[in-house]
Amino acid sequence: MSKSDEVFVGAIDQGTSSSRFLIFDVKGQIVASHQCEYQNHYAKAGWVEKDPIEILDSVETTVAGACRRFNSLGYNASQIKSVGITNQRETTVAFDSVTGLPLTNAIIWNDVRTKDLVHRLIDEAGSASRFATINGLPITTYFSAVKMRWMLENVPEVKAAREQGTLRFGTIDTWLIYKLTGTYVTDVTNASRTMLMDIKEFKWSAECLEFFDIKESELPEIRSSAEVYGTITEGRLEGIPIAGCLGDQQAAMVGQSCFEAGEAKNTYGTGCFMLFNTGSEPIFSKNGLLTTVGYKLGPNAEPKYALEGSVAVAGSAIQWLRDKIGLIFSASEIGFLADSVEDNGGVYFVTAFSGLFAPYWRDDARGCIVGLTQYATRGHIARATLESVCYQTQAILDAMRKDSGTELRRLRVDGGMTNSEQAMQIQADILGIEVVRPEMRETTALGAALAAGLGVGIWKDEAELRQIAQSNVSAFWSRITDEKRTEMLAGWDKAVKRSLDWA
Ligand code: G3P
Repeated sequence: MSKSDEVFVGAIDQGTSSSRFLIFDVKGQIVASHQCEYQNHYAKAGWVEKDPIEILDSVETTVAGACRRFNSLGYNASQIKSVGITNQRETTVAFDSVTGLPLTNAIIWNDVRTKDLVHRLIDEAGSASRFATINGLPITTYFSAVKMRWMLENVPEVKAAREQGTLRFGTIDTWLIYKLTGTYVTDVTNASRTMLMDIKEFKWSAECLEFFDIKESELPEIRSSAEVYGTITEGRLEGIPIAGCLGDQQAAMVGQSCFEAGEAKNTYGTGCFMLFNTGSEPIFSKNGLLTTVGYKLGPNAEPKYALEGSVAVAGSAIQWLRDKIGLIFSASEIGFLADSVEDNGGVYFVTAFSGLFAPYWRDDARGCIVGLTQYATRGHIARATLESVCYQTQAILDAMRKDSGTELRRLRVDGGMTNSEQAMQIQADILGIEVVRPEMRETTALGAALAAGLGVGIWKDEAELRQIAQSNVSAFWSRITDEKRTEMLAGWDKAVKRSLDWA
């Protein structure tokens, strides 16, 4: 086959701290990519926001960067047959349907400004889990509906647009697809994070809409995760269809080929998210986990559900040590620093910057470092930071075992923190099960690309996707005794109590 006959699939990966565009060949190999890291705004304690136009600009910059590289390899953008979108979930944008412009900054998923509103809503609802059998989620600051409601109550431009009938809400997938193609849609995985979708019917729930005071006309059409949503209208990708869309954690599930019930993955990005495939029926958690749509790869495809354990802070703690505290110069330093000490020296760091998510769900928890003595070094703080994510992962795994009744024997991992051998060794030590890391770690983008390829018929079914997503792996096993693990976990539980007591 000549170079000009080859076909490719693009993936826009719009995360909390960066945007990326990757171009994959039909074997799932990355041919060209570009990344653009950016900062969110922290206007007040607990507030996290970003101008949606800046998010769009960052995407366009990465598309241009990757396409330049692609051209320099002798390819042409017209060889990209479809584009997939994967995105930070829950982050909420409000825009005007006439101007197409945002009405206020996007409220990022880990923002906790809605704390008081959430307490008011829980009182009104009678319990945090009032709608969980419809939407799979508890009422917390995390999900989009409360962010929409906060905007309606606090942003005059949003209120005015409602009165004029021009208000449109969306998660980041919706915003990007709308700006790139003009179509106002979302996919089932992103919709399942709003608290407004009936996750069995894949429709906006009248009961949830009424409770949160959101109008259906202010929300996008819900579609599957693999189909053509629209065609890109301008720029380097003009004329190419967007044919895949998944929230980033669900995309990683596809990219890690967790297609069977009982398969799970854990992605360490800005936060850290474990998804456990529960098959074609949703399982409702009794142990603080979320029920979410895993994927629905085509309008007529069978949906798959997942139990999810979400940790609000993972990479963002490392970023904080680098940018706010100056403990490290680059993120990659943390593993080596953590390795400079034998153990945590009794130091625990509960990184509850946005409260604690699963399985605790306490928006009033705050970050704390406990167990300090004069013996403690930078190395102990670095180690305690990595351990914090790993302990929270352990708590989630425990909850998953209880909810699903199955014992997970191996955990597939991906995301930035998995580049650190030390972090993954700590994770294996704390979990006591095999931790498996693929050689190809851009699994989130790969998942979106696979959906987009499926959406235009480049690949035909799940079996073919599974083959493409297979990659060489390295495995980590625990090197500590059960006794040591028990002691470490007991220390963590005590530290969490301090974090909760703070409120
Ligand atoms: O639910 C939030 C999640 O989608 C954010 O992912 O990778 O940006 O931390 P990430």
